[in-house]
Amino acid sequence: MANIFARKPLDKVLGEMEAGQGLKRVLGPVALTALGIGAIIGTGIFVLVGKAARDVTGPALMLSFVVAGLACIFSALCYAEFASMAPVAGSAYTYAYLTMGELMAWIIGWDLVLEYAVASCTVAHGWSKYFQDILNQFEFGLPKAITNSPFDLHHGEFISTGSIIDLPALVISGIITLILIRGIRESAFFNGIMVVVKLAVVFFVIFAGIPYINTANWTDNFAPYGYGGLSFFGTLVWGQENPETKLPAGVLAGAALIFFAYLGFDAVSTNAEEAKNPKRDLPIGIIGSLLVCTVLYIAVAAVITGMVPYADIQKEAPVANVFAKVGMPWARLLVSVGALTGITSVLLVMMCGQPRIFLAMARDGLLPAKFFAAIHPVFHTPWKATILTGLVVALGGSLLPLDILAELTNIGTLFAFVVVCAAVLVLRVKNPNAPRSFKAPFGLFCPIGGIVLCMLLMFSLGWENWLRLFIWLGLGLLVYFAYGIRHSRLQKENAAEALKI
Ligand code: ALA
Repeated sequence: MANIFARKPLDKVLGEMEAGQGLKRVLGPVALTALGIGAIIGTGIFVLVGKAARDVTGPALMLSFVVAGLACIFSALCYAEFASMAPVAGSAYTYAYLTMGELMAWIIGWDLVLEYAVASCTVAHGWSKYFQDILNQFEFGLPKAITNSPFDLHHGEFISTGSIIDLPALVISGIITLILIRGIRESAFFNGIMVVVKLAVVFFVIFAGIPYINTANWTDNFAPYGYGGLSFFGTLVWGQENPETKLPAGVLAGAALIFFAYLGFDAVSTNAEEAKNPKRDLPIGIIGSLLVCTVLYIAVAAVITGMVPYADIQKEAPVANVFAKVGMPWARLLVSVGALTGITSVLLVMMCGQPRIFLAMARDGLLPAKFFAAIHPVFHTPWKATILTGLVVALGGSLLPLDILAELTNIGTLFAFVVVCAAVLVLRVKNPNAPRSFKAPFGLFCPIGGIVLCMLLMFSLGWENWLRLFIWLGLGLLVYFAYGIRHSRLQKENAAEALKI
């Protein structure tokens, strides 16, 4: 009888890592932190802030960034603790396997597809927005048919956008896939350049924007939608709705939306097997990249909501457009190019993370190894899984609406964070003496704080997202019981042990 709660022993996981399973160890602490920043600053801060400031928070967007940042910092500390204990590819999936057993690990692995592949779709979509913004600045608009997904969500209803496909999103997904098949070192090099460019642009936004801040834009109506926005499966329990969109609005609802902007710090942990000194450098990469981004985000939110009244912030390419509004069209171009570069590096890291999670699951026998664990003989990359990821991102990013993709990513990721925090709690109790080269501070405060805040944000997302999450997880369970449980290496090893006895 299979034991779906069987846990992978920690020493076994570490043994697998020591044995080295094919990926090259080339990433140091700076490269890992850059990888984190590369994954974090992108569509969230350059695109989603527009909708958040306008429809959900007003200038109180700054507070939303604080709330979402706190949820992420608690979770990041838990991720870092785990990454220092079990620095192998697979991220939250591996952590769950160690602590909560195979079924939970599978659920998380499956859920991480939302965080990586679906997030990549969202990011590809955001990339397309800035790409088109640049073309428009040169009065070279693309034909409408190829500029957007065919449908969108408007006031809770699906409407036709008049387009057929988002071609730029499709093309960029294809290009990134090719780069990733070629190899991580080259990708890390590209990533380094793009991270420098995007940090420069973020600093530019902050410092060039400060002289244009009119504090009345903050003080006149700081939190037009209040501080709440918490709903419970569709019933608003705290705060108010935006009268136009009829969706929960306020600081908490805003935090649940722009949470997307923080996502990516955990991608560092999916590159554990390519880290030179994972026990030391993974915590540095995870926490360092998140802290840098938190400070920058709060500053960007303050600047853009100070430069123009929140109701004038555009939803498409908002950060570039506030500069056009204050009479700096050249700055608009500069910011658009920087945003495009920044968003490209997010795509690179996100689309790099997904195949590595598949790889970890396939090594455990939960996915077909021939396909998902196939390492390219020359490039040493999980090339088949990379191609599959590329196909999913190209199709999802070019055919599905941005808001749905972003919210689905958020709920999936928040769920993964809750599980990681819970897993840290479990391991602290069950295995208090396991070597931890990094430990989340203040006892159990971080894991508990992470669970509470992430749950709060999950409930601040509309009920449709819960439905989509449950459908996705239900599908995952079907796959597990049809395939994973029968091919699991751990189950086979446990069965062999039992026979020996
Ligand atoms: N945090 C990443 C972004 O905002 C996913 O694009």
